[in-house]
Amino acid sequence: MTDTLTIRRPDDWHLHLRDGAVLKAVLPHTERDFARAIIMPNLVPPVVTAADAADYRDRILSAKSQGSRFQPLMTLYLTEETQPKDVRAAAEIGLVKAVKLYPAGATTNSASGVRDMDRVMRVLETMAQVNLPLCVHGEVTDAAIDIFDREAVFIDRVLDPLRRRLPELRIVMEHVTTADAVDYVRAAERHLGATITAHHLVINRTHMLAGGIRPHYYCLPIVKRERHRLALRAAATSGDARFFLGTDSAPHVDAAKESACGCAGCYTAPVALPLVAQVFDEEDALDRLEAFVSLNGPAFYRLPPNEDMITLRRAEAPVPPAVETAQGSITVFDTGRPLAWQVER
Ligand code: DOR
Ligand code: ZN
Repeated sequence: MTDTLTIRRPDDWHLHLRDGAVLKAVLPHTERDFARAIIMPNLVPPVVTAADAADYRDRILSAKSQGSRFQPLMTLYLTEETQPKDVRAAAEIGLVKAVKLYPAGATTNSASGVRDMDRVMRVLETMAQVNLPLCVHGEVTDAAIDIFDREAVFIDRVLDPLRRRLPELRIVMEHVTTADAVDYVRAAERHLGATITAHHLVINRTHMLAGGIRPHYYCLPIVKRERHRLALRAAATSGDARFFLGTDSAPHVDAAKESACGCAGCYTAPVALPLVAQVFDEEDALDRLEAFVSLNGPAFYRLPPNEDMITLRRAEAPVPPAVETAQGSITVFDTGRPLAWQVER
């Protein structure tokens, strides 16, 4: 039985850091385990232009702890007003590493997102030319589509037509939650990758809803049936280079989660690596953990893997206490689940 595992330092290919007091409170949890992270742009107001991204990057860099070598990889929030030349310039100077598509209304702070894909085609064509990946929140927003079907319908209605129209565009299907998405990504010959979160590997919709509603398990895309969770575990642990870790760690203060209309998002940054290590251990796939958390992501983004290493050790630990911020406390996923692995520090 392996009790320690030394791997290249991981990256987080999908992360919400927020801003202000929350940014300051949550960044330490990511920077101590991860070298780099793709930073989601859904602030209020969103990070739309290259100038917005440069300002947000500066705020993240000033929030870093002393000695931290964490590198934020910035993204732009795609709107129907986004200018191709702004995106091109931001890509060419290396300021942004991806553009994020939120269908308008799909999730937290997505009101300025895209309603009509035709209106963003010029930007997407430019991205294909300059090799800038598109990260997609893959859910339709049609009120007639059941929330548990929104990812699968997105593939048919939006993603597949887009890939046929612009085959050179490199796309990351973010936080996949269904067997349908896993199958779709596996069938793609090139230019399509997918991130998988830690929490979608460990909970299903029954965990969220049976025996009482657990608001800290509520996120978008919503957790699905057990068979989908098993498909995600198979994809993550398969070693297939198209799948990589994107935690989608999404802090909200407890008052906003434990409410009559609670916000979507699981705050997993402090426990993401231990959770994923446990999943790989349970699946007898610890030899493929490094590919999922440290190698496949950089390969997709055409960046070198990190040079330094981290060590994970099999050792029980409680989930850390809630993070206190000036705006309130933020519960860490998942209070009821002791951790079986720890990152050595
Ligand atoms: O659960 C989620 N939370 N899903 C998203 O897509 C957005 C995120 C957030 O920003 O809170
Ligand atoms: Zn997200």
